Amino acid sequence: MESRAFFLLRAHEGFPMASVACIGFLKVAAAVLLLAASVSSSLSPDFYSKTCPSALPVIRQVVEDAVRKEPRMGASLLRLHFHDCFVNGCDGSVLLDDTANFTGEKTAGPNVDSARGFDVIDNIKAAVNNACGAAVVSCADILAVAARDSVVALGGPTWDVQLGRRDARNASKDDANTQIPGPFSNLTTLLYSFQTRGMNLTDLVVLSAAHTIGQARCIVFRRRIYNEYNIDFNFARSLQPSCPSTAGDGDSNLAPLDHLSPNQFGFNYFMNLLMQRGLLHSDQELYNGGPADNITKHYALNPTDFYRDFATSMLKMQSVSVLTGNQGEVRLDCRKVNS
Ligand code: HEM
Ligand SMILES: *[C@@H]1O[C@H](CO)[C@@H](O)[C@H](O)[C@H]1NC(C)=O
Ligand SMILES: *[C@@H]1O[C@H](CO)[C@@H](O)[C@H](O)[C@H]1NC(C)=O
Ligand SMILES: *[C@@H]1O[C@H](CO)[C@@H](O)[C@H](O)[C@H]1NC(C)=O
Ligand SMILES: *[C@@H]1O[C@H](CO)[C@@H](O)[C@H](O)[C@H]1NC(C)=O
Ligand SMILES: *[C@@H]1O[C@H](CO)[C@@H](O)[C@H](O)[C@H]1NC(C)=O
Repeated sequence: MESRAFFLLRAHEGFPMASVACIGFLKVAAAVLLLAASVSSSLSPDFYSKTCPSALPVIRQVVEDAVRKEPRMGASLLRLHFHDCFVNGCDGSVLLDDTANFTGEKTAGPNVDSARGFDVIDNIKAAVNNACGAAVVSCADILAVAARDSVVALGGPTWDVQLGRRDARNASKDDANTQIPGPFSNLTTLLYSFQTRGMNLTDLVVLSAAHTIGQARCIVFRRRIYNEYNIDFNFARSLQPSCPSTAGDGDSNLAPLDHLSPNQFGFNYFMNLLMQRGLLHSDQELYNGGPADNITKHYALNPTDFYRDFATSMLKMQSVSVLTGNQGEVRLDCRKVNS
């Protein structure tokens, strides 16, 4: 709801010559829009320019070191930010360890034995705390910047990250289980998940191409390589030795989401889909005879459009239901709420 209001407002900002009727509409909707307005307009790329001018270079340095050590970490940090944003907004909730008051998101199905990069976030937080004081740069912003820097470190596009998010004081395992779309989802379900966060079919296709980097476990693609028909035969067969058909057998064995260039951010993800070589069921849904097909085809043929639109769609995802002003807090330690 909040994110929908946000986009309505942005549409009006783009047309300052609003008609009288339009202004009437704005008045009626003012109460609804107020929260979203204060939330969205207070994010800014310059948020830390006075309080922590070294924040961005410090974060980039730690990310670059981590990605140099292990290229996959760039993928893991990008995914961590996605999982943060899709569960009650980009509020750092994914980073909270379990407490007596709540069971956090780390043990939820989409994250357990799968989400990685928490140690790198700890290293970043320690470095920015050291540079500027502990109560200055939020964990939610660190995730957003680390995601961008990861994409850049692996050869992808860059953009100015909007800053000023604050951190949640709670987290919910149940919410993580229900709000993150699963790899067996169909296009309708995937699209719905994005639409409820103010995004559309183009954003779904563009952001799913984050699967141009990183790895997935056998357990999430076993059904696809043994039981589905919209998959290239040789591709399926090449994956079967390390992902046996028996449930429980080799569940955590890894395969690259983009087998052509797993550590290079590029547009091969779309080429794979055109050849029915999407690794996840949810990936191939984006090229399976439905309304996403022509978007997928377009990006396979126009990589520069993909790089440009990836940045645009990331900006949308990064602003989903953020906390600002005096909402939430700036955590001192990303793993726990301040006492
Ligand atoms: C559209 C719905 C999506 C579904 C169903 C989905 C599902 C998955 C699954 C099942 C994995 C493998 C997890 C594992 O086996 O441990 C994965 C990995 C990954 N996902 Fe997604 N994802 C989606 C969208 C996104 C988005 C929007 C992003 C980022 C913008 C993203 C970034 C990644 C990355 C980078 C990896 C690899 C992580 C690593 O190697 O550590 N995904 N995703
Ligand atoms: C649980 O919440 C209460 C009330 O907000 C707080 O005083 C207490 O420190 C919290 N406990 C933990 C373990 O975070
Ligand atoms: C977290 O706290 C906020 C504010 O108190 C509340 O609105 C929200 O529902 C809580 N979320 C969870 C997952 O408990
Ligand atoms: C998509 O999946 C949902 C949830 O499993 C299901 O209710 C719906 O019927 C499916 N839609 C199509 C078009 O297959
Ligand atoms: C999605 O929104 C973008 C603007 O953010 C727009 O350019 C694009 O055409 C929209 N795509 C669809 C399928 O509505
Ligand atoms: C894809 O086709 C739909 C109608 O089927 C159209 O609305 C949309 O603009 C097309 N998108 C692209 C990228 O061609």
